Amino acid sequence: MGVEVWLLLVVGVLMALAYSRWRHSYWSSRGVPTPPIIPFLGHIHALFLKGLKPLLYENEVYSKYGGSTFCGKYEMFRPILVVGDLELMKHITVKDFDYFTDRRNFTLTNEGDDVMNDMITNKTGNEWKTLRSIMTPTFTSGKMRGMYPLVCDKADDLVSFSLKEAANNPHIDMKHNFGRFTMDTIASCAFGIECNSFENENSEFPKAAASFFQLTWKRKLSIIFLITLPKVFKFFKLRFNPPSLDFFAEVVKETIAAREKGAKRGDFLDLLMEAGKDNPEKKQVLNYKSILAQSILFLIAGYDTTASTLAFASFFLAKNSTHQQHLRKELQGIVKEHGDLTYQGIMEAKFLDACLLETLRLYPPAPMLERQCTKDYQLPGTELKLHKGDIVQFPVWSIHHDPKYWPEPNEFRPHRFMPENRDNITTFTHMPFGLGPRNCIAMRFALMEAKVALGKMILAADLQLAPGYEEMEVEFGVGILRPKNGVNLILKPLSEE
Ligand code: HEM
Ligand SMILES: *[C@@H]1O[C@H](CO)[C@@H](O)[C@H](O)[C@H]1NC(C)=O
Ligand SMILES: *[C@@H]1O[C@H](CO)[C@@H](O)[C@H](O)[C@H]1NC(C)=O
Ligand SMILES: *[C@@H]1O[C@H](CO)[C@@H](O)[C@H](O)[C@H]1NC(C)=O
Ligand SMILES: *[C@@H]1O[C@H](CO)[C@@H](O)[C@H](O)[C@H]1NC(C)=O
Repeated sequence: MGVEVWLLLVVGVLMALAYSRWRHSYWSSRGVPTPPIIPFLGHIHALFLKGLKPLLYENEVYSKYGGSTFCGKYEMFRPILVVGDLELMKHITVKDFDYFTDRRNFTLTNEGDDVMNDMITNKTGNEWKTLRSIMTPTFTSGKMRGMYPLVCDKADDLVSFSLKEAANNPHIDMKHNFGRFTMDTIASCAFGIECNSFENENSEFPKAAASFFQLTWKRKLSIIFLITLPKVFKFFKLRFNPPSLDFFAEVVKETIAAREKGAKRGDFLDLLMEAGKDNPEKKQVLNYKSILAQSILFLIAGYDTTASTLAFASFFLAKNSTHQQHLRKELQGIVKEHGDLTYQGIMEAKFLDACLLETLRLYPPAPMLERQCTKDYQLPGTELKLHKGDIVQFPVWSIHHDPKYWPEPNEFRPHRFMPENRDNITTFTHMPFGLGPRNCIAMRFALMEAKVALGKMILAADLQLAPGYEEMEVEFGVGILRPKNGVNLILKPLSEE
């Protein structure tokens, strides 16, 4: 090659580097500190790390580079503000919520992804407010009480299946079983069908759902494009949703048709249909397409999060028999008092609640939260002005493990959450379900569902760690934290008293 070509190449590279540097000066030019930056990538290299490492990296951002107050990051060239200061978090998620009503929006243009457009997660501004206010009444405690028997049925299936499996195996994968349980529960409550994945894992519903959660490398790559280079995603007409979507559409269509003729069950599908009934304007917002979208969203948002929470909790209880016995005593007391594990009883179980909250502190399935700035905003007490479109990220994982707020942060200590110790918890340091008006709409449902399953499991069997599986291995793929290779436990059935 001639000297000219080399020269051109060098100049090209230098110019590209200069461009990258210029784009990566967004924060430094405004006096905001940043962790060391990699040209072009910014800080997304952390996305490619394995296991807990992406979150340990976030811990460094939090403790070493200013994230515990605030600091800047880049996803390629896109600036992200990490805010770990509790007072600022309170402003952004609650007090000044009007400036941050949205999360980041993705532009999916492929026809196969249409259904995502209608999900509440993709709604912004006033459209979100309207839809959320129509959906919120679906999740009140009265509605949860109505749905309780449906969830109980599925938890009974979980227990009898797990005991049967344990009788024939030295240890069993409870993550897998909890996954079937949450799948059955959502099929029952959000799609109105009995899918019995315990009996038949190959029935259509679990199969269709599985393809949703399978992260082939192709899908992972397309998601990374979606996050970092939306234009590439669009150019190649990449599709986010697998074709199994059509199956769900069919199910919901049929169920809605059946419900319109009568047959009510008090599940989400009923409640969403009813929510739209009383006035035409609401019916417009919550039409058939929108109900389908919310049902699918419930599957996406509720399946793995709840199953992982249950798997983590059962792991911690298997690891510490003191806590497990304490929990069993509490539950036995409740059964004695109420005659059964009733809704009322479950809601009164303080230690059960504490075990789940402590689990969610140690392993929050959603270890990062985000908001998008929707109009220019002066960050209170600082010189910094955020612009419309800026993304703010809250380091949930790091705050949940900050020894400043949680003494011995890596220890499983459910007693932190017992009523007598609650005063010791700093507000805004525990946020597994997010914060403010845009938090998890289904928090009550998720906790109720988890309490029933864990409660029934602990009453029916003694849980022990299986040899060779004493450590929890986790993975953190596309923003969700989950056990990596399942949670293998030994189940010793307890005779009923
Ligand atoms: C233990 C289980 C669960 C955890 C840890 C969890 C956590 C979360 C988190 C962190 C958010 C974002 C909140 C924010 O940005 O402040 C969220 C949003 C959401 N979750 Fe959950 N979730 C769980 C179960 C469920 C279930 C079972 C459902 C449905 C039945 C559900 C439906 C939703 C919906 C619809 C949103 C979006 C709300 C909106 O944008 O207005 N989640 N969840
Ligand atoms: C997000 O949505 C807004 C308004 O709907 C739009 O102007 C903006 O370009 C979108 N951003 C992305 C990254 O798709
Ligand atoms: C979400 O909303 C934005 C703007 O409102 C739209 O451009 C986009 O296609 C929607 N869908 C998804 C999946 O992001
Ligand atoms: C279980 O937890 C208690 C209280 O935190 C602790 O005192 C005990 O040592 C733990 N037991 C085991 C086996 O780890
Ligand atoms: C609350 O925290 C303080 C200081 O960390 C500690 O001394 C005290 O024992 C705690 N109280 C309870 C009830 O845990």
